[in-house]
This record gives sequence, C-alpha cells and structure tokens, in this order.
Amino acid sequence: MVPTDANFMGNVFGGHILGEIDLVAYIAATRHSKSACVTASFDRVDFLQPVRVGDVVDFDAEITFVGTSSMEVWVRVRAEPSRGGPTQMVGEAFVTMVAVDAHGHPVPVPPLVLESVEERLRFEEGRRRMEERRRTRHPRPK
Ligand SMILES: CC(C)(COP(=O)(O)OP(=O)(O)OC[C@H]1O[C@@H](n2cnc3c(N)ncnc32)[C@H](O)[C@@H]1OP(=O)(O)O)[C@@H](O)C(=O)NCCC(=O)NCCS
Repeated sequence: MVPTDANFMGNVFGGHILGEIDLVAYIAATRHSKSACVTASFDRVDFLQPVRVGDVVDFDAEITFVGTSSMEVWVRVRAEPSRGGPTQMVGEAFVTMVAVDAHGHPVPVPPLVLESVEERLRFEEGRRRMEERRRTRHPRPK
C-alpha cells in the first residue's frame, strides 16, 4: 500500500481495500465463467484491523458457490507489516458476481468442480447465503 492509498488517519482508506476486493473477485469470476462479469452484491465487510501504508496486502479469492449465472466469491485480505512481524488477517468478503453477455444480460456459467469435503461444505453454506440474498434483496427497478 502506498501513500496515495491513505485516509486522514494515515492508514489505508477502507474504500481502496473494497475496490481491490471487487477487482480480485472480478478476476476469479471471469476466469471461472470465461465471460464478462458484473458485481451484483457485496456482503458485509468488517475491517478487523487497520492496514498501514507500506504493508504488503495479499488478496485471496475462491469461488464458493455457483448458481445459474451468479457466482459467490470469497475474498480474504491479509497484511504483512512493512516493519516485520506476523501477517495479519484484515478482513473478508463474499462478493456476488454475475456473468453477462455483451448486452448485460445474465448468461449461464459452468458448474463448480468440488474436490474436497471443505469445498462441498463451503458450497452448501454459499447456497444458503445465496438463498438469503434472494429472499432479502430489493427488486430491480423497471
Ligand atoms: C446483476 C444483474 C446483471 C442481474 O440482472 P437481472 O436482470 O436482475 O437478472 P436475474 O434476476 O435473472 O438474476 C441473475 C442472477 O443474478 C443474481 N442476482 C441478481 N441480483 C442480485 C443481487 N443483488 N445479489 C446477489 N445476486 C443477485 C440472481 O440471483 C441470479 O442468479 P442465478 O442466475 O445464479 O440464479 C443486474 O441487476 C445488473 O446489471 N446490475 C448492475 C451490476 C453493475 O453494474 N455492477 C457494478 C455497479 S457500478
């Protein structure tokens, strides 16, 4: 993180981290779908501790659930302090990306290949979160 990423406290601006989360989620979703994608939703993000200017920040993205055209991407953020010390968990987010065609209409994505018990568990948890999002979201304006 560089000085232009800083907020008024001299730590990194939270919006900058959110933008990076969106970008890595987009990369993961386009790699999986081989299609253009848009961000449909961001679940709650808690910043567990500040990121300092100079920290090396690592973003790790994994697709946890796939519907018809939507993908849930789990992004974890960790920071390695520039002055040494252990890498710290900064926060995590679940981002829903939707694969779209050239007109912005949703298109189907390939299924997820689930290889481990953990991946299967995360898929079922993702399905539950996706159902909850569907139940609680606002309808799209006409
Ligand atoms: C996301 C978008 C393409 C969905 O289009 P839509 O006409 O509402 O399509 P549908 O209702 O058929 O939904 C398509 C999929 O998106 C999912 N979806 C739609 N809105 C969602 C939301 N707010 N949160 C999570 N998933 C959502 C649906 O559950 C569905 O998933 P599935 O195909 O896996 O079953 C559309 O709402 C859109 O273009 N939004 C703006 C996206 C954007 O510009 N993002 C950047 C913001 S600047």
